[in-house]
Amino acid sequence: MQSASYRLESAWHTDGGPHGRFVFSLLNLSDTALQDFTIVYTSLTRVIDKTACENAVFVKRNANYHEFAPPAGFVLAPGASWTFTIGGLHRKAVHCTDGAKSAYLTLADGRHVPVAVSDLLLEGRTSEPPPVLLPEGKLDLPFALQPWPRRIDVKPGDTFPVCLYPAPGASMEDLKAIDTVIGLFRRLFEADHAPLSLAANSQGRVLHLTPDATLAAEAYALSFSSEAITLSYGGGAGRQYGLTSLAQLLNGARREPGKFRFPISGTISDAPRYGWRGCHLDVSRQFYPVADVARLIDILAWFKLNIFHWHLTDDEAWRLEIKAYPELTAVGVVRSPDGPLLPQLGNGAEPVGGFYSQDDVRTLVAHALTLNVEIIPEIDTPGHNSATLVALRDLSDGQEAPESYHSVQGYPNNALNPAVPFTYEFLGKVLDEIVELFPSAYIHIGGDEVPNGAWLASPLARKLMEKEGITGTFELQSYFLRQIKDMLTKRGKKLAGWNEVAHGGGVDTAETLLMAWETPEVGIELAREGYDVVMTPGQAYYLDMVQGEEWQEPGASWAGTVPPAHTYGYEAEGDFPEELKDRMKGVQACIWCEHYLSRGYFNRLVFPRLPAIAEAAWTPKSQKDWLRFAAIVPLSPKL
Ligand code: ACM
Repeated sequence: MQSASYRLESAWHTDGGPHGRFVFSLLNLSDTALQDFTIVYTSLTRVIDKTACENAVFVKRNANYHEFAPPAGFVLAPGASWTFTIGGLHRKAVHCTDGAKSAYLTLADGRHVPVAVSDLLLEGRTSEPPPVLLPEGKLDLPFALQPWPRRIDVKPGDTFPVCLYPAPGASMEDLKAIDTVIGLFRRLFEADHAPLSLAANSQGRVLHLTPDATLAAEAYALSFSSEAITLSYGGGAGRQYGLTSLAQLLNGARREPGKFRFPISGTISDAPRYGWRGCHLDVSRQFYPVADVARLIDILAWFKLNIFHWHLTDDEAWRLEIKAYPELTAVGVVRSPDGPLLPQLGNGAEPVGGFYSQDDVRTLVAHALTLNVEIIPEIDTPGHNSATLVALRDLSDGQEAPESYHSVQGYPNNALNPAVPFTYEFLGKVLDEIVELFPSAYIHIGGDEVPNGAWLASPLARKLMEKEGITGTFELQSYFLRQIKDMLTKRGKKLAGWNEVAHGGGVDTAETLLMAWETPEVGIELAREGYDVVMTPGQAYYLDMVQGEEWQEPGASWAGTVPPAHTYGYEAEGDFPEELKDRMKGVQACIWCEHYLSRGYFNRLVFPRLPAIAEAAWTPKSQKDWLRFAAIVPLSPKL
């Protein structure tokens, strides 16, 4: 692979402004002098004061996109470097991933040339050793089960069978369920020996499967002897969870026989703590091919999570094919130096795109269904719609002042306008297609982070507010969301959204489920207002947050530092008053991808925190044990 001929080195200095400054050095590693160019870099630490730079001239910014020029007449000789300082930052840099995530040059003839970037260094700070995020752990019982079951009373065997196989006469449904778990295992652990087999084997152990009407649909029980195993299950999900537990037990015993064993006698009886055991993935900021999404769903199934919340749209891209509006995935996904959507979050000189066709969606929905995972699609409204508004210009009020408000991520005028009639026609057609694609009871409509002040410079919005007696952004948001709720009800679907759906008067609480992400306290407040709640607080369950205080730890930090031990130990139900506990439907991990530039980052930030949330979702509080978790989690599959 050819390396770039230019490299951008960067450091953050604490002095030179309320939020410090970046000092950049662009090195010319080519054989020719460079002149008449601008440099673009993408950074989540944004420049808000255009004048606070030295030896460079501000050209343009859009969200994370920053463009600067060298002083007039500047020539960068081969082997030389151009050092410039950028102050006027909107906040301090806190970690090594807060600097330039990508860069490129634009030459006078319009060509774009790649620039390699390095980690952001902190000036004046020496290297810090990485934090210990996972202790060695300690097992009281030598079994590789994760999440840990509700009740376990089994004795470890000295040996383990080569595989488990169904008793003669097993039903077609049972055979298919075993086949599904063999397939799951083979995909997740390609080089390991399959723990289940459909054919009898003299070195194996026979497995009897029996439905048990006294068990709940997701519950199962296992009973072990040296001769045979019996799996009783409430429904298809319980059967799959029982088979998965057997696969985990046998895989652990085979992979690490000094640590884990397979049971020779006794019983396990198991059922989940919560009905909603979710994981969200943001595919807008970074695109994940179908195979990656399918593998993540496999990982959820392995940890007995049952909801995949698919965040399909955001400011940076609209990723879902909608037949009525092909512009969404023709224009609304391509980030390119030549626009209209500009590079963000690690994009460079090459255009990037990617979307899911409706056939892709059907494939993934079917894949998830066989694993008892339900996919909840999210179309984020009314905020977070820069890509949509660029793709479909008629969604904007043409008379609204440009840059009249900015989102917290720095996007100007990025919310669908409640006063533009096309907004509802558009969303109606989008929902018509979505309800055909996704069998889930809930459709997630976002509702988060509409900036206070949004729409107030839109004459159409002003007129509507006057007519309806609406004051302020959030009452207008509520007006909009009530209509979206009606549109969902007409289509036989329930509304899921982020906690801000409740702002400005909210929506009808019946058949509405909100995700409390800003703080844990928000969840209790929502429950008090009558909403069903899923707990996804950033302070424990946002997997983009850094795991340690050290500068060199990658990730975001607005919700604090979230080490795996904290994610594991956090009790979402903790402060819920007894009378509101029924409203708390479960917990969910959120994988936001602004910082996820590679599979390496994904795996470093998601694991082991995702299995930690899976255990919090499944295992009763009395059975949670951080050291046991730490001992087992190295067996976890990764993306
Ligand atoms: C969110 O993190 N904006 C839901």
